[in-house]
Amino acid sequence: MTAISLRLILQTAMLAVFFSAAGHAQDRGAPSRQGGLEAKLEYCKTCHGLSGQGYLGYFPMPRLAGQQPEYIEAQLRAFIERRRTNPIMFNVAHVLSPSMLTALATHFRGLNPKPFGGAPRGSIAMGKRIFEEGLPESNVPACSACHGTEGKGQNEIPRLAGQLYAYTVGQLTGWKKERGQGSAVDTSAIMAPTAHNLTRSQVEAVAAYVSYLQ
Ligand code: HEC
Ligand code: HEC
Repeated sequence: MTAISLRLILQTAMLAVFFSAAGHAQDRGAPSRQGGLEAKLEYCKTCHGLSGQGYLGYFPMPRLAGQQPEYIEAQLRAFIERRRTNPIMFNVAHVLSPSMLTALATHFRGLNPKPFGGAPRGSIAMGKRIFEEGLPESNVPACSACHGTEGKGQNEIPRLAGQLYAYTVGQLTGWKKERGQGSAVDTSAIMAPTAHNLTRSQVEAVAAYVSYLQ
């Protein structure tokens, strides 16, 4: 794909997100610190780690630290609307008010713990190449074109830097089983062909590479 067509796809998807967000325009004021925000954050951190660094439990709990607030909020809405099917996060998120979603999402941006680590290092050089140059022969664009040269993301495009290896491998190998469910097209469609076109060993390589980015 050319850079122009990538940008077009992205802009179309962003418009869709904008219109779905407009539905939440009527909202009460932001939740106060006493209004349950602290308690909710403590709850999030029992799974996502005390500084949002992620945790490798029975499931990999993704890193939220440094994540783009727009992305966090968009994913929480996707869990609630079951466009992204995950029973744990549905239960967590469906009780949250729209203003609480925003307040929670904003919090994690300011956290900056060291990457969780632990990924195999054998194919990191291959992962770096995929991240920076893509795989033109398999129709895989450079990840950096959207996720940024340092993997920090922007707006609805997530940060990948420091993300848990096991989590990233799981998402990229099971993309269509969890994301983009239901009839509405959302931002998950932007990643679907890329996830599909990567082989398992390519996924492992790029997941290992980004897991060490700070
Ligand atoms: C009981 C454990 C648990 C709790 C509590 C929890 N989460 Fe999660 N969360 C998970 C798991 C597991 C996933 C990965 C889901 C998947 O595989 O798609 C996840 C995924 C997410 C994602 C998607 C991240 C990404 O990179 O796409 C966001 C955002 C999120 N959680 C936010 C929160 C917030 C905010 C709270 C607190 C209100 C919270 N979570 C509480 C277990 C938990
Ligand atoms: C055209 C832009 C674009 C390109 C190129 C791209 N991505 Fe993405 N990626 C996105 C968007 C947008 C999302 C958010 C999808 C959603 O809303 O569900 C995403 C999500 C992801 C996620 C999920 C992160 C999480 O926290 O759950 C992973 C992992 C990912 N991309 C890896 C990659 C890798 C690896 C490459 C390169 C091989 C790549 N992406 C190339 C736009 C892109």
